Formats: sequence, C-alpha cells, structure tokens
Amino acid sequence: MSDINKTMKAWQLHAFGLDNLTLDTIAKSEPKAHEILIKVGAVSLNFRDKAIVDGIYEPEMIPKPLIPVSDAAGTVVAVGADVTKFKVGDRVISHLYSHWIEGAPAPDEPAHCLGAPYPGGLAEYMILEAESAVLAPSTITDEEASTLPIAALTAWFSLVTYGNLKAGETVVIQGTGGVSIFGLQIAHALGARVIVTTSSDAKGQKARELGADEIINYVTTPDWAKKVQHLTNGKGADQLLEVVGGEGLNDSVEATKVTGQIAVIGFLAGQTTNLDLMRVIFKQTKIQGIAVGHLTAFEEMNKAFDAYNIKPVIEKVYPFEQAVEAYQHLAKGAFGKIVIKMS
Ligand SMILES: NC(=O)c1ccc[n+]([C@@H]2O[C@H](COP(=O)([O-])OP(=O)(O)OC[C@H]3O[C@@H](n4cnc5c(N)ncnc54)[C@H](OP(=O)(O)O)[C@@H]3O)[C@@H](O)[C@H]2O)c1
Repeated sequence: MSDINKTMKAWQLHAFGLDNLTLDTIAKSEPKAHEILIKVGAVSLNFRDKAIVDGIYEPEMIPKPLIPVSDAAGTVVAVGADVTKFKVGDRVISHLYSHWIEGAPAPDEPAHCLGAPYPGGLAEYMILEAESAVLAPSTITDEEASTLPIAALTAWFSLVTYGNLKAGETVVIQGTGGVSIFGLQIAHALGARVIVTTSSDAKGQKARELGADEIINYVTTPDWAKKVQHLTNGKGADQLLEVVGGEGLNDSVEATKVTGQIAVIGFLAGQTTNLDLMRVIFKQTKIQGIAVGHLTAFEEMNKAFDAYNIKPVIEKVYPFEQAVEAYQHLAKGAFGKIVIKMS
C-alpha cells in the first residue's frame, strides 16, 4: 500500500516501448494556487497514448519519465488557494488541450497537453489546472466520463462545432474505434444519416444497433467511396470523419459531396498523403484539420450527451495493475473505448 499522504502509485514511461512502462511509487504533488488534486477514478486510452508509448507521436516533445494517458475522471481531494471553480468532492474530467478554453487555438496549444508533455492520469492522483477541468455529468460513472475528453470531443468538434451538422445530412464514419463510435452516436442523435465503414461485419452489426443506417465493409468493398456515392444517389456525404489518413484521403474526397467537409482527425494508415489537388479544387472540398476541441465545446457537448442520453460505449475495463494489457488490447482494435479503473 502506498502512503497516500506522501506517495502514490503511478505508471511511468522511462523510454519508448511498452516494456518501459512500469508501475512505480513516486512522490504525490500538492496543488499550486490555481490547481486541483484529483483522486483518479478511471482513465481511458486513445490511439495517441499508444503512439506516445511507441515513440511515433512527436517524440521530441515527450519528457521521461512520463506519467502517460491524457483522459481521466476523478474526484477533487484538494484545491489550491485561488481556486473557486471547484470544491473538494466534485467529480471532474480532464481536458487535453489544457489552455484552450474557447475561440481559435493559440499556436502553442500542443505544449500544454496532458499525458505528454504534461503528466497524465495513469496514477492514483493527478494535478489539473482548475480552469481547464470540466465538471463530470452526474448521470455517468467515472469509467464513462473518462472516455469523453479526446474521443467524444473530437467527434463533436468535427461534426457540430466546425460541421454545424443538421438533421437529414449524411455522415461517413470510418471504422468503429473510439472517435468513430462517438461520431456515430452524435450524428445519429442529431438526426443525420450515418454510413459506417468497418473491417468486420460483426462490428458493423453492433454499429447498426447504435443507429448506423448503412454499413460498408472496407475489406470486402475496397472501393467504399464509390459505394458511398451510390448510397447517396451520386451526391456524396455532407461530412466525413477521416480517422485513417494516409493515401485514403483521396477516397474520402470522392466519398463526400461538392463542398462537403472532411474532418482530418487520424493517421492510422500514415501521417502523410499524396492528395489529388484537382479533385479537391473541382469539388471545393473543405478539408478541416482537427485537434480535439476547446473546453467550451466540451461543456456544451456534455449537456447534449445528457439531453440525448448518449452513453459511452466501453469494450473493456481493465484494473489499474493491468495497464499494459489495456494498451495491448487497444493495439488490436476495440469497438469503442478501453478504460483502466483505479483499484
Ligand atoms: N486529431 C485529433 O484531435 C484526434 C483525436 C482523437 C484521435 N485521433 C486520431 O484518430 C485515429 C483514430 O483514433 P481512435 O482513438 O478512435 O483509434 P482506435 O480506437 O484505435 O480505432 C481504430 C479503428 O480504426 C478503424 N480503422 C483502421 N484502419 C481503417 C481503415 N483503413 N478504414 C476504416 N477504418 C479503419 C478500425 O475499425 P474497424 O475495426 O471497425 O475496422 C479500428 O478498430 C488515430 O490516428 C488517432 O491518433 C486524432
């Protein structure tokens, strides 16, 4: 047992590679005047967390040792002298871009991200700046709340904040991972027609149960973009969540309508692309880079989740001691989210 007054258990990354993630006992920090200390209830994993451990996510920005994992939910156990936003006992959620509160992002937002370069939440306790924490909806558990900061907000910011999604529009969602399932749930709740691409018919069936209108297996139908055109009577989708990246971006241009929006979110298939500019020019495609979203949108999203009763989809909850197994599970792909719960 750790001495909860002075020390805490924390997973730390000492060098790139999952073998170098170890469960250590380290000093517990005290909150500074503008900070809060939370007892972490649960964290959720994102592809970013795995990419950081693997050394393929801005490796020069990763301090070592690092407490990884940006997305956490927990209970406030101490507040700094200047904090008025929260009190001890409040349940809060972390916010990845901790200095991006509203409006346009500052050029240095990535320098203030949790889970690298700032310490993350894979520990018994976590320090957050009070102004960048968000009150957890009372209707959901810590496990559910921990899934919201990146995956849900990324989908929301793409579809709603930038995309201004309207009922009756068509949205293409790539895959059934964390961002994508939230994208499906949000688009369906707002009355959009949702087309999901997946490598698995079984996952496609589960996506249907969550409200997907059309499923395209991108393994058996590699020309999925043409299929989207067919399903939309040659018009193309209004919006598409691009989590795959790489050369597939050209397919996404084909799958979207003239002036459609592609939210460039992920890089599962590569961080560079050869884009056919003439197609983009003639279709006047809006290619919108996405970096999660700001805190104000996070709070708006939480209200909408309450109103629409959107419940995060969690494939598996791992105990704190099995964090490595949780990362390994994420690497294999999950339907929705992987969560790690504190003991
Ligand atoms: N820019 C941002 O703000 C931001 C925020 C969050 C995430 N991301 C990025 O977005 C990507 C997805 O993140 P995540 O956390 O949702 O990942 P994840 O939970 O690991 O989801 C991965 C899923 O993507 C699907 N997939 C893989 N290759 C595909 C392909 N060729 N076509 C269609 N689907 C494919 C698979 O779904 P099936 O098993 O159904 O085939 C797989 O399960 C990552 O690159 C991540 O870094 C970016």
